[in-house]
Amino acid sequence: MSAASKQVTHVEVPRDGVRIRCQGVSKYYRRTAVLDAVDLEVRDGTMLGLIGPGAAGKSLLVKIICGLVAPDEGHVFIDDIDVTRLRERELQALRMRLGMVFQNYALFDFMNVGENIALPLRMEGRSSETSIRNRVAEVLEQVALPGIQDKMPRELSGGMKKRVSFVRAVVRRPPIVIYDDPTGGLDPVTSAKIFRLLSDMKAQGTTSITISHDLDGIRPLCDQWLLIEHGKTLFSGDTSAIDQCETPYVRQFWRGEPA
Ligand SMILES: Nc1ncnc2c1ncn2[C@@H]1O[C@H](COP(=O)(O)OP(=O)(O)O)[C@@H](O)[C@H]1O
Ligand SMILES: [Mg+2]
Repeated sequence: MSAASKQVTHVEVPRDGVRIRCQGVSKYYRRTAVLDAVDLEVRDGTMLGLIGPGAAGKSLLVKIICGLVAPDEGHVFIDDIDVTRLRERELQALRMRLGMVFQNYALFDFMNVGENIALPLRMEGRSSETSIRNRVAEVLEQVALPGIQDKMPRELSGGMKKRVSFVRAVVRRPPIVIYDDPTGGLDPVTSAKIFRLLSDMKAQGTTSITISHDLDGIRPLCDQWLLIEHGKTLFSGDTSAIDQCETPYVRQFWRGEPA
C-alpha cells in the first residue's frame, strides 16, 4: 500500500474538528456556473442540512465531495485530505470511510438485495461470510425489510429500494455519511422510519450531510444549514440564524411560504 493510500485509510479527526470542508468549489456547464464558489464546513458528529430548490446543484455538490465528479475550481477536504488531488486508488480507500445514499438508488440490478448490501463489506475484506450474513440480516430488520435478501432490485417498490440503498451505505458504519434525498418519494410512515435511522446514526457520532426537501423531517436533526440556488450560497449558518434570517427568499424557503 502506498504512503498516500495508507494516509487515506488511517485518518484521525482533525484537531479543529472539521471533517468535511469545501473551499470555493465551482463547477461550470457550458460556461455557466452550476456551482459558484461554494464553501462549507461540517464538524465531527454534526449534520449539515443541504437545502434548495430543484437543480440548485445539491446532488452535484455531494458527488464532488465524494470524489465522483471533479470540481473546476476549489478544494474539498475530508479529514484534512484534499479529495480533489487524490488518484483513483486513494479515492477508493477514502470512499471506504464514507457512505453515500444516492438520490436514484444506484443498486446493482444484477445482484440480489443481500449481495448489494454485502458488497461494501466484501470490498473491505475484513469480515467473515457468517458475520456478513448476520450483519445484512440485522440491517434489513432495522428498516423493516426482514428476509428480503434473495429479492432482486426490480422486484422492489421505490420505497423498498430507498431503504435498501440506505442500509448499503451504512452497513460498514462509516464515520461520514452523505444522504441525498433519503426520503424522496416515500410515504410518511416510511419517511419517519428513515429519519429515525438518521437520528440513530447521529447519536452514534456519525458526521453527515443530508439533502432533503422535507424540512420538518430534518429540522430537528441538522445543526448547520446551507441553502443554495443556481449554485450560489443564499444562506450558511446554524438553526437559530436561519430562523432569524430576514432575506426574503431564505425566509420563504425555510418557512415554506408561497411566493
Ligand atoms: N457532472 C456535471 N457537470 C456539470 N453540470 C452538471 C453535472 N451534473 C449535474 N449538472 C447540472 O447541475 C445542475 C444542478 O443539478 P443537481 O445537482 O442534480 O441539482 P439538485 O440536486 O439541486 O436538484 C443541473 O443544471 C445539472 O444539469
Ligand atoms: Mg438532487
